[in-house]
Amino acid sequence: MGKGYYISKNLATAAMVLAAIALLTIIALSVVYNREKSKNAAKFSNATILPVPPTPKTSNEPWDKYRLPDSLSPQYYNVTLWPRLVMNANGMYIFTGTSGVMFTCVKKTDLILIHSNKLNLTLFNGHHAKLAGLSGVTAPAIKKTWFQTETQYLVIQLEGKLKPEKSYWLYTEFTGELADDLEGFYRSEYMEDGEKKIIAITQMQATYARKAFPCFDEPGMKAVFHITLIHDLEMTALSNSQEIKTEKVIMDGTYVTRTIFGPTKKMSTYLVAFVVSDFAYINAKDKKGVSVRIWARKKAIEDGQGNYALNITQPILEFFEKYYNTSYPLSKSDQMALPDFNAGAMENWGLVTYRETALLYDPRTSANGNKQRIVSVVSHELAHMWFGNLVTLKWWNDLWLNEGFASYVEYLGADYAEPTWNMKDQIILYDLQRAFAVDSLTSSHPLSRKEEEVNTPAEISEMFNTISYSKGAAVLRMLSEFLTEPVFAKGLGSYLKQFAFGSSVYSDLWDHLQKAVDQTPGVNLPYSVHEIMNRWILQMGYPVVTIDTQTGSVSQKHFLLEPEAVVERKSEFSYEWFVPIKWMKKDQVQDQLWLLQKSTIHRPMKVSKNEWVLANLNVSGYFRVNYDLGNWDRLLSQLDSNHEVIPVVNRAQILDDAFNLARASIINITLALRTTKYLLNEREYIPWEAALRNMNYFFQLFDRSEVYGAMQTYFKKQVKPLFEYFGTISSNWTRVPTGHTDQFTQIIALSLACSTGVEGCRELTRSWFKKWMQNPHNNVIHPNLRSTVYCDAIAAGGAEEWNFGWQMFQKATVAAEAVKLRSALACTKVPWLLNRYLEYTMNPEKIRKQDATSTIGSIASNIIGQPLAWDFVRANWDYFFKAYGTGSFTFSRLISDITYRFCTPFELTQLKRFQKDNAETGFGSGTQALQQAIEKTTAKIKWLAENKEPVLQWFLSA
Ligand SMILES: *[C@@H]1O[C@H](CO)[C@@H](O)[C@H](O)[C@H]1NC(C)=O
Ligand SMILES: *[C@@H]1O[C@H](CO)[C@@H](O)[C@H](O)[C@H]1NC(C)=O
Ligand SMILES: *[C@@H]1O[C@H](CO)[C@@H](O)[C@H](O)[C@H]1NC(C)=O
Ligand SMILES: *[C@@H]1O[C@H](CO)[C@@H](O)[C@H](O)[C@H]1NC(C)=O
Ligand SMILES: [Zn+2]
Repeated sequence: MGKGYYISKNLATAAMVLAAIALLTIIALSVVYNREKSKNAAKFSNATILPVPPTPKTSNEPWDKYRLPDSLSPQYYNVTLWPRLVMNANGMYIFTGTSGVMFTCVKKTDLILIHSNKLNLTLFNGHHAKLAGLSGVTAPAIKKTWFQTETQYLVIQLEGKLKPEKSYWLYTEFTGELADDLEGFYRSEYMEDGEKKIIAITQMQATYARKAFPCFDEPGMKAVFHITLIHDLEMTALSNSQEIKTEKVIMDGTYVTRTIFGPTKKMSTYLVAFVVSDFAYINAKDKKGVSVRIWARKKAIEDGQGNYALNITQPILEFFEKYYNTSYPLSKSDQMALPDFNAGAMENWGLVTYRETALLYDPRTSANGNKQRIVSVVSHELAHMWFGNLVTLKWWNDLWLNEGFASYVEYLGADYAEPTWNMKDQIILYDLQRAFAVDSLTSSHPLSRKEEEVNTPAEISEMFNTISYSKGAAVLRMLSEFLTEPVFAKGLGSYLKQFAFGSSVYSDLWDHLQKAVDQTPGVNLPYSVHEIMNRWILQMGYPVVTIDTQTGSVSQKHFLLEPEAVVERKSEFSYEWFVPIKWMKKDQVQDQLWLLQKSTIHRPMKVSKNEWVLANLNVSGYFRVNYDLGNWDRLLSQLDSNHEVIPVVNRAQILDDAFNLARASIINITLALRTTKYLLNEREYIPWEAALRNMNYFFQLFDRSEVYGAMQTYFKKQVKPLFEYFGTISSNWTRVPTGHTDQFTQIIALSLACSTGVEGCRELTRSWFKKWMQNPHNNVIHPNLRSTVYCDAIAAGGAEEWNFGWQMFQKATVAAEAVKLRSALACTKVPWLLNRYLEYTMNPEKIRKQDATSTIGSIASNIIGQPLAWDFVRANWDYFFKAYGTGSFTFSRLISDITYRFCTPFELTQLKRFQKDNAETGFGSGTQALQQAIEKTTAKIKWLAENKEPVLQWFLSA
């Protein structure tokens, strides 16, 4: 999947809520961070007492186990589905279907287990399926069939045994609900020309294919799919493979179309997709005749919103063909934008589905941040066409390799399509530092999990997390850096060749990379790829490397945000890593050093008084760096005198490392605050974004205390030159800067300047908004600046501004524009408007279900909205729990959003009461998040007690 809902990647800046200055990344960061802290704070609180989980039933029956037995192996499926896009007499939308699967018996057995969830199966002679033998084999009779709901199986017991190496045909007929639940085969509704449209679409990953038709629903159980869809004449059906025949037939007394698709390649069930819609498309053919199409609502296509995606899809496909040294395995590549979609995007083989904001671009209303998101997501999904789809990891415990890989190479594909955007460096912000934040907790987990640790759908769903995506990406980038990219790509190519159309485990990739190393003269590793990488993937966390430039000593230590943390999880490597350290001395790049033990002396790192050492050059390694105070001083004065001597990404690193070392009490908080002094002269995006995230942590901690005023004054001074600089280069805000990332920096300048009260800023944004209100058909606000301007103006205004924004939101035909308005509406300071807006989230006619929890999150990031959102969710707990609580990853995000500002003892008491009051219902997939919230609040109380005064003093004297 594309980075899902829980990471709205690359949109951090665009979606920034100015008034509250609360970046979601920071929320995520502090949430998980504090879960960790409190775990160790159990000494002084009862925060860590988890609700007792129900004791799992111990059973040795195969149908009580979540994993399929290895006795049967599916070969191909024939699936025919007919979604009804009108409500039936019972007020329900349904689909009917038939499915046959040809499977081979591998081990003698009298039991068939096949996944089936929420399907009503037709009975044949009292049984839910029919079984036949193929090529002259007689199948044993069915003895008994039933559903094992917990493990989501249709269980079929046979009178006799199936014979090894023989093939059988299992046939079912069924009815399912075409619900609006965003899972399996589901329906989506949208308005077009005043008319309600209904389409049928799918989302199978991770365990929802079984909700569309009975299947062996594990990624390693690859098979060929013959899919047929039945639908109304005016609709179009799409699936993974090319349609080979459409015919008009009479069914149930009406004319319908039957669309038959060619056989797919051998593939996993979670990559199956089918859609029935009246969407339009634009297309192109690449040099080898692969058909590329972009699909969306007719209006969006007519509007040209698919053009940008079409422009970049082909170059990205070409790039990956070269990079993987393997041609694109299918004959077509459809990209489809869906009005209702839970994940960011889904890499269904041949038919990739996206949220509209991840595929559609409208030059008149979309920001360049929206454009960047499109190129990143398309690149991520297309990377999966090979890595993930052609070769699939056998089980979900290795999800990190699939998602980490795509999250790394998406930057390479995006860079190829948009070479002037400086995409490759942005991985520092959007993956590496994001992973650092959650991986510095004792509750983190290793990238690689044992197969037997991941079983239930909920456990599988939990794998789609920041560690898998972002740490995976950062660690693979480090690997590619120390192997060099050609060696990395070579190993990758031979890995894909060996496992094409099959499945693998992570160590298979290491084998192939090692082979590439062995075949390449000049690449010298201190240990094998396995030995080096095992330390990064089998133990959680990462090191802080400490360099003492007085002695040249270099040492490593597991970095933990909580200094007194007790690490309960044992590691066979004792939390030591083999660390590749690229570094520079003054302005000279030095030879790479491998730190292979706890501590060593590296004489070249001992430097004289006027030199400095900077380690982790270009932040190619997954570790933080600390220095002796003398070296810190020299680095800071280098930043003050001429910061450009230090590479851009390392400036972001210095800021982020310093703040986190301070939060871990390794260095003084005032040293960290000093790293923001040079920002007066900084004009680059990546360091500013890193700084902003760390500042936000302070804003949300202190915006209700006396520190706030002093902090405002300081940051106002720091951002003023940036604001003036952008005023100048944009001819007084009438043009956008030409550089891609400069456009991001401009947004930071405007947003931070307005929120700290730089003179002239608010007047500017409010006058733009007023102009728009006076002439709604001519929005003069540049798309890049809209999030900031809308939020600021709605925060400053009242009901009139809000209602205008709401009207524009309802009229918005471009999803990216709607998102900006939806989050800006949360910026108002008027309580009744906020309360009414909260009510809207329970009404899908007003706020789409896919957007409800993130809307509440936006409201909660508003200082006025937070207590309202908290009360609202508590009051409607049953509704939210039913709607989102059982497996949706948006649910845990909801809980962390509504509690992230908590930092007082009173709020802690409230949280604990909430936990107690709802212990009956439970917290479903939000259990961890609630625990984190309690622990986070506990930790903040402690941190504030120790640091508030020095922070206040520093801001007052700065
Ligand atoms: C933990 O809870 C128990 C029972 O409610 C109470 O007796 C005890 O004092 C609490 N401990 C701390 C450290 O708060
Ligand atoms: C499944 O569908 C394929 C393609 O239409 C067909 O050739 C095959 O005979 C079908 N198999 C069965 C058992 O019906
Ligand atoms: C499946 O059967 C149950 C029980 O008879 C019924 O309530 C439900 O509506 C049926 N679902 C569909 C999609 O027909
Ligand atoms: C797509 O590419 C064409 C040709 O290079 C260009 O004219 C057009 O502006 C591009 N469209 C978008 C939305 O970038
Ligand atoms: Zn993915």
